[in-house]
Parts: sequence; C-alpha cells; structure tokens
Amino acid sequence: MTDRASERDFLLPARLRVAIDGPAGAGKSTVARGLAKRLGYVLLDTGALYRTVALAARRAGITWDDEPAVGALAQTLANEAAISVEASESAPVSLMPPSRDSAVSTAIGGSGMRVLLRGDDVSTAIRAPEMSLGASRVSAIPAVRAALLDMQRRAGLEGGVVLEGRDIGTVVLPDAEAKFFLTASAAIRARRRMEELAARGTTMAFEAVLHEVESRDRADTERPVAPLKQASDAILVDSSDRPVAEIIEEMALVVEARARVR
Ligand code: DC
Repeated sequence: MTDRASERDFLLPARLRVAIDGPAGAGKSTVARGLAKRLGYVLLDTGALYRTVALAARRAGITWDDEPAVGALAQTLANEAAISVEASESAPVSLMPPSRDSAVSTAIGGSGMRVLLRGDDVSTAIRAPEMSLGASRVSAIPAVRAALLDMQRRAGLEGGVVLEGRDIGTVVLPDAEAKFFLTASAAIRARRRMEELAARGTTMAFEAVLHEVESRDRADTERPVAPLKQASDAILVDSSDRPVAEIIEEMALVVEARARVR
C-alpha cells in the first residue's frame, strides 16, 4: 500500500460495494442513481447489459428463445468487449481485466448513462418496451448470465460502486457490504412504469402495463437461474408511499454508517 493510500484509508470512510435488487418498477433506477450521486459512487445498471444482449440478438436475427444461439452471442459480446457503458458524469470504472486494453468499460454517472454496442449508442433502443421483454427472456438463459457475470463483478472490484439489478446481493456480489431490496406494490410499480413510458412518448393502458409488470415479476422470480430473491442480509425497503429523496437519504445513512465502522 502506498503512503497516500494508507493515509486516505485512515482519513476517509471506506468506499463500499452497494447492491440494490428488486422487481421492475420499484424505483431502483431512480434510487440507485440518487444514492450513487449522494455518496459520490459509480453506478452500474446491470439490467442495461441484459437489454443490450436482447437487442444484439434481435439485430443478429436470433430469436430470444434460441438459447444456444443467444448464449453464444452473449459470450462473443463479452469476449470481444462489445458492450460498453459510459457516464455523462463521474469517472469511468473498468469492466475489463486490467491486462486488457479493450473497449468494455463502464462509467455510469449520477445523471444517467450511455450504452454502446460495438460503438453504436443503443441507450434509447434498449429502453423500448419490447426490449424489456427481450431482456427478461435472455436473462433466463444460464449462458447469458455467466457471460455477463465477470463484467459485473469487475465493476465492483474497487468499491465505491452501486450495482443495481436482480441478483446483485445474491449472486454477483454476495459479499457486498451494503445490500438493499427495494420493492413496491405491483399497482404502484405499474403506475410508475406507465409514467416513465409516457415521458418517452409511449402510451400504454394501465391494465396492460400492470399485466406486463406482473408477468415479468413471475418470470424473474420463477426462473431456475439467479431468480429475483431478497438476500438474507439485505435491508428491505418499501418505496410504495415514500418520497424518493427520503428513501435515498435512509439508504445513504446506512452505507455511511457501515463505511465508518470498517
Ligand atoms: O432492470 P431492467 O428492467 O432494465 O432489467 C431488464 C431485465 O433484465 C429484467 O427482466 C430482469 C433482468 N435482469 C436480471 O435478470 N438480472 C439483473 N442483474 C438485472 C436485470
């Protein structure tokens, strides 16, 4: 350890790994973004990686239920470092092993992120409702999860990160120092999803969105590989009737307290 590093370790709280899991529409993205900003941490939205695999499959003419082909595609994308995530703010965190000078890096800042697939900005394309379905499908394929696992773990190597997803506290970073499971009622999550879609110019009826939310929940919780499940040591946070700022503050205080005692 350098003098500088040891000095820093004495003076500043540790930079922890924070896992935020939960079902679709629980407000994870907003909370994770706000928490990362509040703590000065880097954010990785892992759902974007699954969405990008779904989009890449679509572009390659591979159907989402063609498990061997989608699995092989995900492995190729990982090997070729074809997916990169860039921050609009904050310093980048590398997703690649230090020995590789490749393009798969991520830097997701406090105010959103840009996702690139072979250099092509797919940030908007992966947010289409169809890609939510595609991501849910491809995320059930073990080979896809395996291909994306290393990338996600690398993002957590240095600490000072918030990883947001479905299996961060259980599979990706089981030893994360702070784990949260964020949830909300299905109706509230559907209402939020509807507003989110409307803001992007897509109008959908409440019942249709609710149906989509519930069927994604089922698919995510019932799949045999890395199902959506609260880690035994995760703090359950219900965001149903609470202001986002209050939730973020509560979570930040937990992280800060744990960072001080380390
Ligand atoms: O959070 P999101 O809606 O962008 O996630 C898209 C899909 O990817 C969702 O159906 C669940 C899946 N996913 C996953 O299986 N594991 C993760 N760590 C993140 C997302």
